Amino acid sequence: MSVQESEILAFIGPSGSGKTTLIRVINGFVRPDSGKVTIKGKEMNFKDGESLRQLRKKIGMIYQLFNLVERTSVLENVLAGALGRYDKGLHLISSTIGFFPNDERDRAMELLSFVGIAEKAYERVDRLSGGQKQRVAIARALMQEPDLLLADEPIANLDPKTSSKIIELLLRINLEKKITMICVLHDIDIVKDNFKRVVALKSGRICFDGDTKSLDRELLHNIYEFEENIVWPAA
Ligand SMILES: Nc1ncnc2c1ncn2[C@@H]1O[C@H](COP(=O)(O)OP(=O)(O)OP(=O)(O)O)[C@@H](O)[C@H]1O
Ligand SMILES: [Mg+2]
Repeated sequence: MSVQESEILAFIGPSGSGKTTLIRVINGFVRPDSGKVTIKGKEMNFKDGESLRQLRKKIGMIYQLFNLVERTSVLENVLAGALGRYDKGLHLISSTIGFFPNDERDRAMELLSFVGIAEKAYERVDRLSGGQKQRVAIARALMQEPDLLLADEPIANLDPKTSSKIIELLLRINLEKKITMICVLHDIDIVKDNFKRVVALKSGRICFDGDTKSLDRELLHNIYEFEENIVWPAA
C-alpha cells in the first residue's frame, strides 16, 4: 500500500489481523520478514539503527493508553516530545524541565492551547481524565514536529462523546498542519463518518483498500468473518 503526503486514512480489521504490527513496521520498531518500507522515496534500512532513529524523529505516535509520564506535569510531558529533535547530548541533559529553552516552552504552551487544555499545563497528568490525557499525548506528538502521525486505537479507552472530540482534533491536525496520518480504529461508524480512505487488514494481509462508502454489510462481514462484538452500521 502507499500513502500520499498529507493524506489521512483509517486502518481497520479484527483483533490480531496485524494493525499494530504494521504500524510498528512503518515506524521501524518491527523488522519485516519480507517487503520494504519507503518513506519520501528513501527505503528504510532496518539494520541501521542511526538511520531508523533519524526517520523516527519525524514520526509521532498516539496510543490507546496515552503512554504519558503520569507523575509529572502536563507541560513536562509535552516538552518531552521535543527531545527526539535534539541530538543525544541534549537528550541527556534536558531530562528535567529547567533545561528547555524558552522558545520550546512557548511552543509547548501554544500546542496545549491548540489541543484545548492550556489551563492544565502545570497539573499532574495522573489527575486528568482520559480525554484530557489523550490531548496531552497529541500535543506531545506535535511537539516532535512530525511529518507522519500514527495513532493506534486513540479512542479505545474513551466514552463516545470524548471519542468524537479526539477524532475531530486529529482531523483538524491533518487539515491545518498537513500532517500525514494513519489511524487504527475499531468503530466502523466513526470510520465511515470521518474518513474517506480505509485499509482493512485480515490475517496479516490487506483485504480492502478504498472508499469508506464501500463499507457495507457484506464487505464488513468479509473483513470481520468469525468476529463477534462489532457494531454493524444500519443496512
Ligand atoms: N514480529 C512479528 N513477527 C511475526 N508475527 C508477529 C510479530 N509481531 C506480532 N506478530 C503477530 O501478529 C499478529 C497481529 O498482532 P497485532 O497486535 O498487530 O494485531 P492487531 O490487529 O493490532 O490487533 P488488536 O485489534 O487486538 O490490537 C499477532 O498474532 C502477533 O502474534
Ligand atoms: Mg493492535
